[in-house]
Amino acid sequence: MGELREFHFSDADFRQIQALIRQRAGINLSDNKSNLVYSRLARRLRALGLQQFTDYLAYLAERSDELENFINALTTNHTSFFREPHHFEELARYIGQRKKRPLKVWCAASSTGEEPYSIAMTLVEAYGTWSPPARILATDIDSQVLEHARKGVYSLERISSLAPERKKRFFQRGQGPRAGYARVNPALRSLVSFKKLNLLDQPWPLTSQFDIIFCRNVMIYFDKPTQLSLLTRMMKVLTPGGLYFAGHSESFVHATHVVRLTGKSTYVSALSGESNDPG
Ligand SMILES: C[S@@+](CC[C@H](N)C(=O)[O-])C[C@H]1O[C@@H](n2cnc3c(N)ncnc32)[C@H](O)[C@@H]1O
Repeated sequence: MGELREFHFSDADFRQIQALIRQRAGINLSDNKSNLVYSRLARRLRALGLQQFTDYLAYLAERSDELENFINALTTNHTSFFREPHHFEELARYIGQRKKRPLKVWCAASSTGEEPYSIAMTLVEAYGTWSPPARILATDIDSQVLEHARKGVYSLERISSLAPERKKRFFQRGQGPRAGYARVNPALRSLVSFKKLNLLDQPWPLTSQFDIIFCRNVMIYFDKPTQLSLLTRMMKVLTPGGLYFAGHSESFVHATHVVRLTGKSTYVSALSGESNDPG
């Protein structure tokens, strides 16, 4: 099988890549992900004019700037607008209950931006103004998806599931060479700050606490001890009474002393009397 491939890729290469992405990003690639790793990284070997994966691993060891491309290639960035819509309904209710007091939101694995822009749309709707007293910090480890998110340009197909009023209100349709694409309205765009952040980094470069944390569909890539450590750190940057939204397939039964389920994959802190230092 390996011989039919454009680049030589051994089991030892795969194991080395598995260990490196786990060490640098926390991502656990199971043993059956070898084909995926090959196809994701073959592009890098081609771009660098290398012949085999051992050459690429040697290059990676020497060139620290390649690590960013390596990580970008191995992250899975699947996302969509208003994914798991009940979380956005819950967020709107939370804003109403707080009598529309100011709000800080952290979207901790924001991928190409659909999630933080869905949060921004919810804020505009729930506060009833284009300038809500609220800010969203959107972070991800992958510099490429952050670049996409900052631009806020999506194919019409990506926004096709949005209600027509939302499309009309929050997007500008491209004309001429930009036909087939829509851009997030600049007023919506201005509610979100994008920043590169590796969740494994200690401390996190955060300057405040958050009332709401969206950290969805990323913990599934981490092992249980890493999840526990990240959840504990997240609860320390969550304001008292704040909400943590997780992906529907992320279960934290091993962390009931840290987080308490309060709704559908929605959690509050179970830590008591902890100090709430950022980071
Ligand atoms: C499957 S996407 C989920 C996107 C979005 N949260 C959602 O639920 O639709 C997972 C994201 O986690 C990011 N990610 C993976 N490891 C990370 C890490 N160590 N620190 C920060 N982000 C990470 C990936 O780059 C990717 O964009």
